[in-house]
Amino acid sequence: MGRVDGKIALVTGGAMGMGRAHCELLAFEGATVIVTDMNEAEGKATADSIISSGGKAEFHPLNVTIESEWLSVVNNIVATYGQIDVLVNNAGIVVMKALEETTTEEWDRIFDINVKGVFFGTKAILPAMKIAGSGSIVNISSIYGLVGAPVSAAYQATKGAVRLFTKATAVDYAQYNIRANSVHPGVIDTPMTKDLLHSDEETRKAIMGTTILDRAAQPKEVSYAVLHLASDESSFMNGSEMVIDGGYTAV
Ligand SMILES: NC(=O)c1ccc[n+]([C@@H]2O[C@H](COP(=O)([O-])OP(=O)(O)OC[C@H]3O[C@@H](n4cnc5c(N)ncnc54)[C@H](O)[C@@H]3O)[C@@H](O)[C@H]2O)c1
Repeated sequence: MGRVDGKIALVTGGAMGMGRAHCELLAFEGATVIVTDMNEAEGKATADSIISSGGKAEFHPLNVTIESEWLSVVNNIVATYGQIDVLVNNAGIVVMKALEETTTEEWDRIFDINVKGVFFGTKAILPAMKIAGSGSIVNISSIYGLVGAPVSAAYQATKGAVRLFTKATAVDYAQYNIRANSVHPGVIDTPMTKDLLHSDEETRKAIMGTTILDRAAQPKEVSYAVLHLASDESSFMNGSEMVIDGGYTAV
């Protein structure tokens, strides 16, 4: 029996990187995965590869910044399956720029995706979770939502916002048996970080920061935390922070 057998799990940004790994692991452990992304070709490829490995998945195009798209996807899934048990708010972008060089457009864009997208998704899914009387919301923040780092003020502001938005959700919806927890990955080898991690040694060292394991993680190493929070194994975790950072924040 899989660890999330029978659950319906919606993942944003499931086309590549960590989102894809979360989709694959959740499906491997028995969930029906609703893969969503604005990248339709890669998102569909994620769902197809899960299906060809014997898992259950379907792809729905979704730009997390457009509320009407959220409502349409959620209504569609609830009409088909009756409920959505798990929401993984994973889609995100990074802006690596000094504060004074960050433009207003860059600030607004990163907040739209990393913060407003999480708000829209959570708001869209809560009515169905309330009716079902259960649900697990997993929000992907970052170590940059916990501690400071160079040249990423806008990104850090969004990830700090996700951290406390998660706690607010946990407080208000515990009465409906809906849990919300945040995940704080350190340096993970994904398309988002590939150029920085695989360029020169100086850049790699700068991005690795105080990662005491001295390596970047593979996406799946974060997916196991997402799986735990999605499953009933984490039934007493609510408003908590799971840090998966190779020791970055330990020093
Ligand atoms: N890679 C890291 O080291 C790292 C560390 C900590 C936290 N994170 C966070 O983890 C999450 C996933 O990061 P990743 O490294 O896998 O990123 P990635 O760039 O490899 O993949 C991000 C995915 O999100 C999708 N996406 C972007 N904007 C979208 C939108 N508006 N609507 C829908 N989908 C959208 C992209 O198409 C892509 O499939 C992000 O929230 C990121 O901030 C990443």
